[in-house]
Order: sequence, then C-alpha cells, then structure tokens
Amino acid sequence: MNKMHESNHKKWNAAAPRWKARRDSKGPWHRGHLVPERVEKALEYWRENALTEQGVAHIAQHLGSLEGKNAVVLGSGDNFAAFALASMGATVTSVDISERQLEIAAERAKDLGLEITFHQGDISDLPTLPDGGYHFACSVGVVAIWISDLWQYYAEASRLLTPGGLFVVSEVHPVRQMWSNCEYFIGEDAMVGKEGGNTPEADFFYFDRGPHQYLYNPETGAATEFVDPEDEENRDAENVQYIFQWTVSDYLMAMIDAGFEILHVWEEPTKNHDRWRQNCFHALPNGFRMVCKKKQ
Ligand SMILES: C[S@@+](CC[C@H](N)C(=O)[O-])C[C@H]1O[C@@H](n2cnc3c(N)ncnc32)[C@H](O)[C@@H]1O
Repeated sequence: MNKMHESNHKKWNAAAPRWKARRDSKGPWHRGHLVPERVEKALEYWRENALTEQGVAHIAQHLGSLEGKNAVVLGSGDNFAAFALASMGATVTSVDISERQLEIAAERAKDLGLEITFHQGDISDLPTLPDGGYHFACSVGVVAIWISDLWQYYAEASRLLTPGGLFVVSEVHPVRQMWSNCEYFIGEDAMVGKEGGNTPEADFFYFDRGPHQYLYNPETGAATEFVDPEDEENRDAENVQYIFQWTVSDYLMAMIDAGFEILHVWEEPTKNHDRWRQNCFHALPNGFRMVCKKKQ
C-alpha cells in the first residue's frame, strides 16, 4: 500500500464511528435489504444513488439475473450497496481499506441476517481476489478521490470482472471538488453559514490532479483544513488525508483504457437548491455516474 493510501486508511479508521453516527441519524440504514420486495428495494437503492431510469434499467437487466452470482463492492464504506446486493441473492465480497468501517458493516450484516465476505484491502491492488471472479462490481458514494492512480484502480476492477460483467460507479462531480467551501473535504456542515461561505474560492484548479492534502481531526476523522502546498509545517503531517482531482475525461478514459464499454453516463444536478444557493453551488452538477460493461 502506498504512503498516501496508508494515510487515507488511518483517516477512515478515525472517521468510522462518526460515519456510522451520520448514517444512523439519517434513518434506516438497511433500506437496500428486505424481502419480499427485495428486487424493488434494491433498485430503490440505486435510484436513491441518483442514477437515471436508463441507468437503473441497465442495472435491473443485469441484477435480474444476479441470484447466486458474485458481486464485489469496492470502497464499501457504509455497505448499503453490499446489503442491497446480498439481499437480492448475490454472493457479495465487500472491500474497504478501513477495518473499522468493515467491523461496523459486519455488525450490521449480522443484524440483517446477511452473509457477506468482508475483505480489508486497497482497491487498486487486490492480489488475493480472483481474476474474473465477479459478475458485478460497484463503487458508489464517492471513492475514487482517495485513490492515487485511477487507471490502476479501474484496471483492477476490470481484472476482477468476468467478460460482460457490469461496473457501476458514482462519484462526486469533479467540478464540485476544488472549492475551499466545499463540504466534501471540510466536513458536511462547512459550506453553509461558514464565514466567506457565499464566495466560492478555489483551493486548487480543476486540472490539478493533486495529491491535495487536508488535515483531519484524529479524534473524529473530519477534515478541518486545506494544506497549502507551501505550508511546510502541515504538509505531509501525521493527520493528513490525500485527495485526488480526477476530471470527467479521466473517469471516462480510465474506464475505456481498462477495457470497459460505457453504457451510461450521467451528471447529477444539485438537488437542494436553497441550501446550496448560499455559495452558488446550486449552479453546478453534484454527482457523476457511470454504468459500464467489461468487453467480451
Ligand atoms: C465516502 S465512503 C464511500 C462508500 C459508501 N458509499 C459510503 O457512503 O459509506 C469512502 C470509502 O472508501 C474507502 N477507501 C478509501 N480509500 C480506499 C482504498 N484505497 N481502498 C479501499 N477502500 C478505500 C474508505 O475507507 C471509505 O469507507
């Protein structure tokens, strides 16, 4: 594991309890699961993760035949995706770099009576997972920004999939990433009501892939401050996370280069306009989604 991923690993272990509390506060965290309408419930999960009907239709077509098939969730975090897939009869492997995130997910899976294989590892290098071992892979709810080599990561996802296998990705839209008052790095409350929060200011340029550094609170894992590259005191500090600015064309090209056919791409608009109007982010897209198929 490279040094930057090792730092991100520590950040996510620190953040895991807070991440759990955040999910708990949003209501039932197991909504992807549930019989008897389990297929419908799982598709609801994908709808909530903001794919268009066309995107959901591609998944439905594939998921319709997922019973007994193998699925891998990459950067599984809250594991909602893993629960949704397992509840539909898939044999699920959930991969995350943070053992703390996986421990919490394992407790939840136990509550739900779901059997999931939890695998601690770096999604850009998973040597013990088999070539072509999976029919479905997904990486949802913002993962790639913590990965130092997008091409290596998507090549690894491609290696894991059987030809014809589906890879579903949802990330924060890259135009949302570089702002100093962006919630994605400085905590979910930061951009609203923050001093200066009405004036978007860029921490870095759209085309500057990074690595960009943010200090985080070691107690909570919450990001606190962008580290200016000239800031020798904080640069590469013990409590730094490394973030990467993959552009839209990077996402598409890394996928194509990894041998995927892109079935569907969607830029999700910002939903809560009033909340985001304060810093004009309501004018920007919010999410970036892809449904891809490994070429035969
Ligand atoms: C924002 S969460 C997204 C996942 C999930 N949808 C959620 O909302 O919890 C990001 C997850 O990616 C994981 N992660 C970050 N870098 C990783 C890496 N190199 N390999 C595997 N997982 C990684 C983190 O531990 C975290 O659980």
